[in-house]
Amino acid sequence: MELYKSDSLVHDETRQGETLVISRPEGVVSNGKKFYIESYGCAMNFNDSEIVASILTSKGYDGTRDYNEADIVFINTCSIRDKAEQTIRKRLANIKVIKKRNPGAIIGVLGCMAERMKEQLLVEEKLVDIVAGPDSYRTLPDLIEEAEGGQKAVNVLLSREETYADINPVRLSSNGISAFVSIMRGCDNMCAFCVVPYTRGRERSRPPASIMEEVKDLKARGFKEITLLGQNVDSYRWSEDETVRGKKLIDLKDTDDVVNFANLLEMVAIEASGMRIRFSTSHPKDMLDDVLYVMAKYKNICNYIHLPVQSGSDACLERMNRTYTKAWYMNRLEAVKRILPDCGISTDIIVGFCGETEEEFEATMDIVREVKYDLAYMYYYSERPGTLAAKKFKDDVPEEIKKQRLQTLVDLHRKNSYESNLKDVGKIFEVLIEGNSKKDEADLYGRTDHNKVCVFARAGHKAGDYVMVKVESCTSGTLLGKIVAL
Ligand code: SAH
Ligand code: SF4
Ligand code: F3S
Repeated sequence: MELYKSDSLVHDETRQGETLVISRPEGVVSNGKKFYIESYGCAMNFNDSEIVASILTSKGYDGTRDYNEADIVFINTCSIRDKAEQTIRKRLANIKVIKKRNPGAIIGVLGCMAERMKEQLLVEEKLVDIVAGPDSYRTLPDLIEEAEGGQKAVNVLLSREETYADINPVRLSSNGISAFVSIMRGCDNMCAFCVVPYTRGRERSRPPASIMEEVKDLKARGFKEITLLGQNVDSYRWSEDETVRGKKLIDLKDTDDVVNFANLLEMVAIEASGMRIRFSTSHPKDMLDDVLYVMAKYKNICNYIHLPVQSGSDACLERMNRTYTKAWYMNRLEAVKRILPDCGISTDIIVGFCGETEEEFEATMDIVREVKYDLAYMYYYSERPGTLAAKKFKDDVPEEIKKQRLQTLVDLHRKNSYESNLKDVGKIFEVLIEGNSKKDEADLYGRTDHNKVCVFARAGHKAGDYVMVKVESCTSGTLLGKIVAL
């Protein structure tokens, strides 16, 4: 899943004093207090901040983009790699000034790092007043009250049921065009390198009715794109019958009262006609053909799949506990090519995992040469405390080698993505405009169906418009073109 560096409700020096206008639900009166929240990590975490904002506004809090005027400052954190946690540590050191200016201000750490470190965080970071894990956000108003009374407040209980189904997220980071919709929480896979099962708990699916409510609401409010989120969307499975709900496909024949991911995707595609539908993340072991057929059937589901491979070596995949082989992965990609001949493919890769030999790394290079991914998120292994890998294996690939391998891989991928983009030169794509280009305000940017970023001259258009763009040139990361008439 794509990791985001920017913040959803971020402190921005140029926007000091700006109060976010978040409409409180009818009948809720302002309590005169303001909260500020900044987010790190994956889309799910950003979506969680929107849930937090919704919970707080329903209790009368107002949002602000300026932490100097906030009574409550939340940092919603990520633990996926050590570097992510170090970034947050630095941020916490930076925001000490808040307490100097306003000793009554409450500082809370939310999300995955809160869950991983629990009370220890209060010991190590003295300025923190609240530690709240991903399943505890409904209790935030109580935790704030406790902290205001001078107590440190902690809730890191994980839940088997919580999906925040009834909470309509306040769209903080949104440009009013694209929105995330979480369809499940947690993860039941045990990839050896990964901290997520420990920070987010057991996998649970959100009831389809509440997902459809949210989709309808987004459509009514003029949103143009929805991304369905889950750590492993293919294992989405809902039934009114609790004994059936958690069971996997292999254990059970599908019956009429079971909604699996293919069913849900179809329901969303029909409901959100005219909107683009994306989803993330698919798991190679669970992605079956039924999902691909639904994608082929509905034009508004984007032809794009994020299918993390992690490694091209069977031995390494086994140590990673990914539960598939390279042959299985390639078979899934063949199914994609057969059912969706024109589909963008992206991936996640880890190099330098415990015991990774030169040959195993070469196997990863080979799969990248073969597949020629359109997009890839590449990382070097970072040991996370408590994970299977941390318990079972030695983190024995030296850091210089990890970095070297990552650079070699990134260079290969860049070459591939440049070639993939070159093939698009001369073609015309439908693009949903997302905003102004970062490099030049006169230009706009948007994405193609395949999730490729495209930059072009404004020509009287604005964010939210669908336009046809003819690609004239490219870099390894961007298509450059101009708007053409239909
Ligand atoms: N279920 C999500 C995982 C989100 S984490 C998914 O499959 O996309 C996103 C990516 O971070 C993972 O796919 C993996 O490539 C990378 N990652 C996870 N743990 C890591 C670790 N300990 N070190 C380096 N990269 C890691
Ligand atoms: Fe982590 Fe694996 Fe679950 Fe993704 S599928 S969140 S990598 S354990
Ligand atoms: Fe997401 Fe980071 Fe947690 S990737 S699930 S915020 S550890």
